Amino acid sequence: MHSFGHRLNGLLTFSVTILAIMCAIASLSDNLNAPSPTAEIKIMNINWFQKQPQGNDEVSLTMNISADLQSLFTWNTKQLFIFVAAEYETPKNSLNQVSLWDAIIPAKEHAKFWIHTSNKYRFVDQVCA
Ligand SMILES: *[C@@H]1O[C@H](CO)[C@@H](O)[C@H](O)[C@H]1NC(C)=O
Repeated sequence: MHSFGHRLNGLLTFSVTILAIMCAIASLSDNLNAPSPTAEIKIMNINWFQKQPQGNDEVSLTMNISADLQSLFTWNTKQLFIFVAAEYETPKNSLNQVSLWDAIIPAKEHAKFWIHTSNKYRFVDQVCA
């Protein structure tokens, strides 16, 4: 009546159905999280400002970066990559984007922080071509 094949088919169908329901719940539950990250950056000091030999301007800044990114961590978050980019307009370029600093936040416990730091990457403005 119920052959081995039938039983196997039933078991497989049941398993796949459960798996599909669990996947759906997992992906839906991530949408219920409404993250509200906050971040603030204060320029504490202009350490120096100089013209490079080729004519480009370079500046060194000290910033206080503070952020609370804890709400971004859910069961589905392994880590966060965060960066600070300066965006500004000049007569030469309508949009300049320069990455100044970045970090990897490995866990929720480290997601609320402030750091007093100078720019990690050189902040050079393209004056000449
Ligand atoms: C940086 O900012 C945070 C949050 O506003 C503040 O608590 C901290 O004291 C500041 N640190 C420095 C060195 O100014």
